[in-house]
Amino acid sequence: MKIAVARETREGETRVALVPELVEKLTALGVEVLVEPEAGYGAQISDDEFVEAGAEVDAGALGNVDVVVSVRPLSADAVRRLRRGTATFSFLPVNQEQALVADLRDAGITSFSMELVPRISRAQSMDALSSQALVSGYRCAIVAAGMLRRFFPLNMTAAGTVHPAEVVVLGAGVAGLQAIATAKRLGAVVRAYDVRAAAAEEIRSMGAKAIELDLETLEGSGGYAREMTEDRAARQMELLAPYIADADALITTAAVPGRQAPLLVTRAMVEQMRPGSVVVDLAAESGGNVEGSVPSEVVRIGNAQVWGGENVPAQMPGPSSKLYAQNIVNIVTLMTVKAEEEGGPATFAPDFDDEIVAGACVTHDGAIRHEPTREAIEGPAPEAPPEPDPAPDATTPEDQPYDQEADQ
Ligand SMILES: NC(=O)c1ccc[n+]([C@@H]2O[C@H](COP(=O)([O-])OP(=O)(O)OC[C@H]3O[C@@H](n4cnc5c(N)ncnc54)[C@H](O)[C@@H]3O)[C@@H](O)[C@H]2O)c1
Repeated sequence: MKIAVARETREGETRVALVPELVEKLTALGVEVLVEPEAGYGAQISDDEFVEAGAEVDAGALGNVDVVVSVRPLSADAVRRLRRGTATFSFLPVNQEQALVADLRDAGITSFSMELVPRISRAQSMDALSSQALVSGYRCAIVAAGMLRRFFPLNMTAAGTVHPAEVVVLGAGVAGLQAIATAKRLGAVVRAYDVRAAAAEEIRSMGAKAIELDLETLEGSGGYAREMTEDRAARQMELLAPYIADADALITTAAVPGRQAPLLVTRAMVEQMRPGSVVVDLAAESGGNVEGSVPSEVVRIGNAQVWGGENVPAQMPGPSSKLYAQNIVNIVTLMTVKAEEEGGPATFAPDFDDEIVAGACVTHDGAIRHEPTREAIEGPAPEAPPEPDPAPDATTPEDQPYDQEADQ
């Protein structure tokens, strides 16, 4: 079994799907590791480091392996270079990548989407959404601290006291909790709000104050948030406005799976903030939690500088690559049968009865396996033919086999 590490081709992507320190985890199973030249360039990892770790650098790697791993989806051109039956692992946002999904289907590729890995306990070590959200959350707090032209912590000096910064975090999932923890470690006073019922306790466990609003909590399936009604959204904005007006830094990380990010903060709410305040909108690229935020830009709204996040984990490619690579090694290992004897070859053998394998699979054997994506691309499934009339009941006396002995 051979696995190739692709060099990322999407603009601004600095991460790499495998790091040298994890190569041995795969070679120990009997997997040969090939790396496209300069695959680690953006993450400051040289080809030599991969070679020292036991990998081979090969410009033609993609066309010559059983499995290809990348962070972002492969380009259509790279898909054309794969052998039929090759498996790919990457982030693959199926709603935005329908043309590529059709290419993967037509090329007979078995593609797995890291976004679709079910969020069950057994799959936690493969949960790349969480590992990357951790990086994003940390980065958001650091960006806010860097942009704010004042201290985060309290300083009591002979010259007088400097009060700590007031930070408000909206959305307390994986990224939000990490932003809270980071801002707390820097000494800020942190308040946070999330629509989920369990969130208040999680916020307090990070040492922050939970903002309690007189609103019902919103929980959908799997412990995720649900979309808000317009009325609730308006009421939430009204109740949050005074907290935001009082904040030196506002960090927003709210998301609802499969939807555009909810708008939580209007331009008018930002205009109420004091001179010098900062806003960090992690959701800028998926619609924005803050009205007027622009991905990858800092814009001025009223007195505030508003920073829009775009592919934030790529701003810290070292740790985000390492965490993602760990997720990748764990999911590939789940589908690999180890070599029987030392030095022998491993086999790539995904078990489609396993809910992690079935859940994460997008295309396989010329078909789209992920039903909502299949329907979006190919249309509704043809109606099943009507059930044939039930067979006559074999237990009725006239259907009983003729018992000759009884007749004798
Ligand atoms: N393997 C697992 O079991 C697993 C893995 C990761 C996360 N989780 C859990 O799933 C939940 C969410 O995780 P996530 O970070 O991936 O979520 P996410 O990125 O989908 O959303 C981020 C946060 O935004 C919040 N949000 C949505 N709408 C909001 C609104 N209008 N106002 C304020 N906040 C809003 C959500 O409740 C969520 O906490 C958490 O409870 C987390 O612990 C479980």
